[in-house]
Amino acid sequence: APEAAWAAALLDWYDRHARRLPWRTGPAERAAGARPDPYRVWLSEIMLQQTTVATVGPYFARFIERWPTVEALAAAPREDVLAAWAGLGYYARARNLHACAQAAAARGGFPQDEAGLRELPGVGAYTAAAVAAIAFDAPAAVVDGNVERVVTRMFRIETPLPDAKPLVRVEVQRLTPRRRPGDFAQAMMDLGATICTPRRPACALCPWRAPCAARAAGVAESLPRKKPK
Ligand code: ADE
Repeated sequence: APEAAWAAALLDWYDRHARRLPWRTGPAERAAGARPDPYRVWLSEIMLQQTTVATVGPYFARFIERWPTVEALAAAPREDVLAAWAGLGYYARARNLHACAQAAAARGGFPQDEAGLRELPGVGAYTAAAVAAIAFDAPAAVVDGNVERVVTRMFRIETPLPDAKPLVRVEVQRLTPRRRPGDFAQAMMDLGATICTPRRPACALCPWRAPCAARAAGVAESLPRKKPK
């Protein structure tokens, strides 16, 4: 199946070009088969839902230094967590974050599958899939805005978002390899953030330039279409 070759090409690109982000394991650790700590993955994904990678970096570092484990965060006074969150916006998220840490600590750690993760406060479909894939190597379909852009271009999906979401999800599920699904998910995010950008995508540098249907048709920049609100 071509999907297996596409996944392999993307993982190879990721091995050479992955962004070094504070919540990621490095290439040497990955090669040794190390999985990232689910607490770090969950914390970074919650923080990244409302702000950029650049803004999250220092907040993430401060949280991890002060509360190195989910048990430590669970035991912290709520006011301290809210104060440390200030600047990331949406206080409801910080309250949910603390409630989620308490729920995870009470059950002895994070559940390892999407269904279990979704039962935690503040953990929706996206976060559950991201944590399952990145921390536990589950072949979950992780779909964020970057991934929607990459996939609508790869398959030249002209249906506007959000109507195209179910089809995008099917394609992501089909593309996701059983080996290294967490790296695959993060590779899609990096591809969308650094190569398959909304404007002026760097198709010449893309590991998927050959099979990309939008590039072949010269319409990459016009995708994804968005339904007028
Ligand atoms: N945005 C959301 N999750 C991310 C991750 N794990 N890596 C990079 N960007 C992200």
